[in-house]
This record gives sequence, C-alpha cells and structure tokens, in this order.
Amino acid sequence: MSIVAKNLNKVYKNRVHALENVNLNIESGMFGLLGQNGAGKSTLMKILTTLIKPTSGSIEICGRKLNKKNEMYIKSITGYMPQEFGFYSSFKVDECLEYMSILKGISKREQKQEIDAVVEKVNLQEHRNKKYKELSGGMKRHVGLAQALLGEPKILIVDEPTAGVDPKERIGIRNILSNYSKDHIVLLSTHIIEDIAMTCNKLAVLHLGHILYNGEVKNLIKQAKGKVYSCVLENVTKSAEVSERYVVVSSQYVGSKMELKVISEEKPEGMVCEQVEPSLEDAYMYITSLACKAARG
Ligand SMILES: Nc1ncnc2c1ncn2[C@@H]1O[C@H](COP(=O)(O)OP(=O)(O)OP(=O)(O)O)[C@@H](O)[C@H]1O
Ligand SMILES: [Mg+2]
Repeated sequence: MSIVAKNLNKVYKNRVHALENVNLNIESGMFGLLGQNGAGKSTLMKILTTLIKPTSGSIEICGRKLNKKNEMYIKSITGYMPQEFGFYSSFKVDECLEYMSILKGISKREQKQEIDAVVEKVNLQEHRNKKYKELSGGMKRHVGLAQALLGEPKILIVDEPTAGVDPKERIGIRNILSNYSKDHIVLLSTHIIEDIAMTCNKLAVLHLGHILYNGEVKNLIKQAKGKVYSCVLENVTKSAEVSERYVVVSSQYVGSKMELKVISEEKPEGMVCEQVEPSLEDAYMYITSLACKAARG
C-alpha cells in the first residue's frame, strides 16, 4: 500500500503556483501534512483524490499510475473528507450516508451493513435519526468522516478533520483515525500540530507549495535541538525588540517579568535564558522561520 508523488506541480488558472516539485512517498500508517494557510495541503489532497489534475508530475497509488484508465479504481479505494462539505440539510444522518453509499457504488445489499459499521466507528449511533441541520458543528464533522470511511477504503484522506471541534471530540476523531491507520493509509492535513504529534510517525511540512520536510516526526524535532530557549525578560518594555530579533513561540507575564519561549540559532541576548527540549511545534516554527529567512535573502 503506497502513494508515490513525483515532481508534482499545480498552477491554477490565476497563475498561483500552489505546488512546486512535490515529491512524497507515503506508506501504510498515519501520515501528517502540516502547513500554514495557503501552503497547498488541500490542493495536494484534491489531486490525490482525482478531483483536480496536476499541471505536471506523476502519481502512483497502490502500484497504479493515476491516469484516466485507473481513475475509477483509485476512486474506489480512496475515502475523502474534504475541508469543506455539506449535505442536504433536511436529510437525516442515515440518509446522508445512504446517499453517499449510492454515489460510492456500494450495492443495496451491502448498504445497511456498511452504514452500521461506519456509524459505530465514529460514534454516531445516538445521532443517526437526526437531521443534518440539527447537528452541532462537531457532529457534522463526524458525519463527514463517516462518509469517508464507507466501503473501508485502503486510503483515507482527511482535510482538517478536527477544525472547530471541541477538545474531547478532537481526541475522539484522532483515535478513530489512529485505529484506522493500523492497516490502511491515513493522510491527515491539519494546522493543529498536536494532532500530528499525537498520531503520526511521519509527516511532510508544506510551505508555499514546497516540501520543507518529509520524514519522521522525531527527526524533525531533532533539527530544532539546541535552538529553543526558555527566557525571562526583566525589562518588559523590550518585548517588541525581542520579537523582532527572535522567533517567539510563547510569552506570558509572570508578575512584573515576562517568560518567553524563543527559537534562536545562538543563545538569546539581554535575557536570562536556558536551553529546553524542542516540541514538534518548536521544530515546525524553526524550519518555517529558516524558509522565510532564506526567501528574504
Ligand atoms: N481553485 C483555485 N483557484 C485559484 N487558486 C487557488 C484555488 N484553490 C487554491 N488556490 C490557491 O492555492 C494556494 C494553496 O491553497 P490550498 O487551499 O491548497 O492551501 P491549504 O494549505 O489547504 O490552506 P488552508 O490551510 O487555508 O486550508 C493558495 O494560494 C490558494 O489561494
Ligand atoms: Mg486547506
């Protein structure tokens, strides 16, 4: 089971170069796609799910080239939860799933069993007779995930599945994805770094259409080792100066002082600082700040 993308480029009609020479090799398990707004995450996902075509480059999914001949097959083994979706608002949850199972070509005979299975997987039992419009935002996302899981696709592609979902439900969705990734490919895009830190061994960081990092989460964290400092700023009037000079990932007033977490190649000056272990968020901020610095020249 694999997704192999080679030299993918996507230039939209408005000339936005949304993906530039993207190379990826994704295998069974959970793979995270991290990147700021406009990085190209959704574009990549839409290409992999055959919704849009790349401008150039090639894709092979489970050993088959993504082309006209294999498009139907690739669609049949892929489940997709888009970033934005909707159903007929008066449909009940069950009706939404019936509708989607028809679109997916699931036979009438298998439909009930399939729907029961996904309803159970995403804990929608209590809500299946409610109208879509009556559901909370979080529950709507569960329906989106349920429809993506119909037919037990080999590849599950989920675009920001936990956006706008409360912490408990977020953990619930995370666990569903994690369990599913045991013998499937799950490709998860998100801004929520913690979701990736808690579920993925591997990730790619997309930045303005480029892959900045592709590999194991732990090796990305290693890149930021020795660059993260916990600092105390006595003279808080200098905080703007500090933010200008360093990447400040957090700051908090403690009495008359300010405690900051700072990313810097060298020990920051003008504050009392000690090196701390980097988190995935620190490492993400570190490599994106390097990319921004390089772009500024
Ligand atoms: N249909 C389109 N036509 C023109 N430009 C587009 C289109 N879709 C996306 N873009 C542009 O392509 C770039 C990548 O967008 P994309 O939606 O893939 O990013 P993203 O990483 O998913 O962002 P977000 O985190 O905000 O969802 C952006 O500059 C966006 O404005
Ligand atoms: Mg997106």
